[in-house]
Amino acid sequence: MPNPRQIYMAPSILSADLLKLEEQVNQVAKNGADFIHVDVMDGHFVPNLTFGHNMVATLKRFVDIPIDTHLMISNPDMYIEAYAEAGSGILTVHQEVCTHLHRTLQAIRQCGMKAGVSLNPATNVNTLEDVIDELDLILIMTVNPGFGGQTFIPRSLDKIRAARNLIEASGRNIRLEVDGGINTETVAQVIAAGADTLVAGSAIFNKPDIVKAMQDIRTAGEKMLQ
Ligand code: DX5
Ligand code: ZN
Repeated sequence: MPNPRQIYMAPSILSADLLKLEEQVNQVAKNGADFIHVDVMDGHFVPNLTFGHNMVATLKRFVDIPIDTHLMISNPDMYIEAYAEAGSGILTVHQEVCTHLHRTLQAIRQCGMKAGVSLNPATNVNTLEDVIDELDLILIMTVNPGFGGQTFIPRSLDKIRAARNLIEASGRNIRLEVDGGINTETVAQVIAAGADTLVAGSAIFNKPDIVKAMQDIRTAGEKMLQ
């Protein structure tokens, strides 16, 4: 039976060349990317600093596919409106920093964005059972967040399967995204485990032909669905 899942590609600009940001983002956006993934880091929740909502607003000046913002920050509630105003299509927060996760997800949706929750490698999928109705996307971190170019953690595959089961049991339309160490080698396993949305940074932007690199990952994933 054909698998109804459609693979979405979400190139992460963390590994893009900032001097060529417009050119590189346009290249992937015009050649099949479904989302542009923006990694926001605060130097507190994760040991690295990147960009803020200004980056989302800047991208929106020339990109019309959804911006998929991944907040790796300690205080996401403070910035929900700012990301909505900047034009983020999806806003993903980390479960580990949200004391009132249900309320946070409602606030994201009330601002007109899709709501996502990300889980660190140490966080169990069952922490999402009671917020499943408020979710549009689950992001399973397949490395510890904070840096591009890290090695995929194989144990994540069990979590992807658990998240897929949770989504299927809910009967809801929720995307299952994976982030960290995704490349032409690891993609087959994550798709087989149930992922449908692939973040990739270094495996796209560190390659000489970024469009081909993105398409190669998608093609390798699609083989698992045939
Ligand atoms: C890491 C970020 C990722 C990062 C992935 O904390 O959330 O989105 O860009 O980079 P790669 O694909 O190089 O592992
Ligand atoms: Zn990310």
